Amino acid sequence: MRILSGIQPSGALHLGNYFGMMRPALELQEKGEAFYFIANYHSMTSLFDAPERRKHTLDVALDFLACGLDPKRTVFFRQSDVPEVTELAWLLSTVTPMGLLERAHSYKDKIAKGIAPSHGLFAYPVLMAADILIYDSNVVPVGRDQKQHVEMTRDIAIKFNEQYGETFVIPEPQIRDEAAVVPGTDGQKMSKSYGNTIEIFGDEKAIRKKIMGIVMDSRTAQEPKPDADKNLALQLLKLVAPPDAAKDLENRLRAGGLGYGDLKKALFESYWNYFAGPRKQRAELAARPDFVDKILSDGAHKARTLAQKVLHRAKVASGLV
Ligand code: ADP
Ligand code: TRP
Repeated sequence: MRILSGIQPSGALHLGNYFGMMRPALELQEKGEAFYFIANYHSMTSLFDAPERRKHTLDVALDFLACGLDPKRTVFFRQSDVPEVTELAWLLSTVTPMGLLERAHSYKDKIAKGIAPSHGLFAYPVLMAADILIYDSNVVPVGRDQKQHVEMTRDIAIKFNEQYGETFVIPEPQIRDEAAVVPGTDGQKMSKSYGNTIEIFGDEKAIRKKIMGIVMDSRTAQEPKPDADKNLALQLLKLVAPPDAAKDLENRLRAGGLGYGDLKKALFESYWNYFAGPRKQRAELAARPDFVDKILSDGAHKARTLAQKVLHRAKVASGLV
């Protein structure tokens, strides 16, 4: 089984990225041959600052490695080190109906947020389809907001196969129910573009402040809270605390007697402990940028070898070669 996923270097990675995409992807490393990449071409559709892109690319590499990506098992690379994907994207674009792209939620959401509607932004799903299809991927672990993109990839692959004969493997999205949408500090989906994130490797003081600033209702500590499971701090705490400890806090909140301040303190402590190991690991890796760079270039070499093979297959099928 081949597993593939990508993440854009467009800002510091947060708990939504971690529980929605990174942790499932890291767990799948054991189950098959994993290919994970930093989607720097995709980031060009919404981030226009070159030094920022360079910085975020290194940060994503450090974050992923620190959280347990094992470069001995997993092929880890920068998207643009495999330029074959852009060629495949062209082939795929010729069988992609305009209507399919026009229905993309992500495109509509991004425009609504004020991102300039460029051709690249519109064609984003076609490049993503090329990313997935060029490695004969079977499984794509992503958060729920990317599900439609993987479904579009399937549609595009099926169209190409119908037109030119069996060429591409049809992939499946894999979405974890319990972390399909991690809420941010304001209760909306946690996202870089909403300013409601808790970064995986955030600064201690800044994250404490964000967590203590989560707005709660005005009920006193003593009041029982039968709707405890809807409490935002508790929902986040369940992701990072041991299950018994989380259950205990939930019971105390439900029964009355646990104040919101104490709950938020517990959330901060659990978050801080949860990432203690990776935090140490990240500091060590950050001191060795050449080592990180070598991992990415070795990964690119392996990825490229496979990408060339699949691209060639598509070119033969479509009469280009
Ligand atoms: P952002 O919304 O912060 O820009 P991205 O769109 O770059 O995040 O998402 C990268 C990956 O992380 C995708 O697989 C996405 O589905 C996942 N992801 C992002 N935010 C969340 C969230 N709040 N809950 C679950 N998964 C998420
Ligand atoms: N669009 C994805 C995101 O924003 C990133 C991405 C690019 C991706 N290519 C991919 C994810 C291929 C999975 C597979 O999160």
